[in-house]
Amino acid sequence: MMMTTTPARPTNKAKILFYSAKPYETEIFTKLNAELSTEAQFKLTFIEAHLCETTVALAKGYDAVCAFVNDTLDSYVLTALKEQGIQIVAMRCAGYNNVDLVTAEALKLPIVRVPAYSPYAVAEHAVTLLLTLNRKIHKAYSRVREGNFTLDGLVGMDLHGKTVGIVGTGKIGAVFTGIMKGFGCKLLAFDPYKNPEVEALGATYVSLPELLNQSDAISLHCPLMEATHHLINAKTLTQLKRGVLLINTSRGGLVETQAIIEGLKQGIIGGVGLDVYEEEGPLFFEDLSCSVIQDDVFSRLLTFPNVVITGHQAFLTKEALSNIASTTLGNVQAILANQPCANSVTTG
Ligand code: NAI
Repeated sequence: MMMTTTPARPTNKAKILFYSAKPYETEIFTKLNAELSTEAQFKLTFIEAHLCETTVALAKGYDAVCAFVNDTLDSYVLTALKEQGIQIVAMRCAGYNNVDLVTAEALKLPIVRVPAYSPYAVAEHAVTLLLTLNRKIHKAYSRVREGNFTLDGLVGMDLHGKTVGIVGTGKIGAVFTGIMKGFGCKLLAFDPYKNPEVEALGATYVSLPELLNQSDAISLHCPLMEATHHLINAKTLTQLKRGVLLINTSRGGLVETQAIIEGLKQGIIGGVGLDVYEEEGPLFFEDLSCSVIQDDVFSRLLTFPNVVITGHQAFLTKEALSNIASTTLGNVQAILANQPCANSVTTG
């Protein structure tokens, strides 16, 4: 008996391969793509695998790839993508520190991103970490569930009247500043470029050492680059006000984790709230609950009662996901149609 196979349905739709795809992303991208006009729709494929040297071959036959914060977009991967005919790499995030832009430009491979999708999502998460740490909600939550209603060790401080330092006063830093103003905090800011919106909220721009020295709580909202790598390190640790609460929802590389551990041990740092971690790549976005975590530095961080860590979830609101999806599809559409795209990333 002769076997017949159904020929693949021909399609002119541009094909996008999504690496590191999670169900909540698949859902929103599929929904928004279906809402586009038939001619504008893409053929979307979602895979869980990270983009790296070993998975880059999967992109063969696609027009575009869509990647996320912990995908590898180094020279090897970008060159392989280009050789396979990929016309655009769409980052579905704001940060692009994991992309080798020099190589991308040399290859004439456009890189696009989503510069802003909800500064509220990230700023509100930073505030959540600060409030959790200050009022020890993580400890109280488990105590009450265990039937332990004692309050020893749960003393916090009024945030009202305290000094909050904001490092990086762009879109997210400005929203964070506005929220902290609502708490009645004294606001100090550090950024090479002053934001009039932040000044109008009553924040005073000071030098970084001054901010570190005077703040009762510090929140980092600047991008990761050479100038900001290990902004909080063994040296700057000595400039901190004793007992400071440190929040990082920006990028893990802004803090030298070993220095933070030392600061916690010595009581210089009163608490740390992290949504990002320098070596988060092998850990975050995965279910490792049945595995032994091999990262001893991260494991040490988890042992502190005054450390709260979330796994890079600051962006995770319905509004942000929807904005990410619509902007990403728009970015791909523009580049494939040879139109200018305001969200292109360059070295310049
Ligand atoms: P933005 O570009 O609006 O603001 C960044 C600010 O940092 C700018 O005002 C810039 O002048 C300032 N800056 C640059 N160099 C600095 C330095 N050496 N010291 C202090 N400030 C400096 O960016 P946006 O949208 O506010 O995002 C900030 C960061 O938040 C992103 O770079 C990204 O890494 C992170 N992020 C984290 C997310 C999460 O889910 N955890 C989600 C989205 C963004």
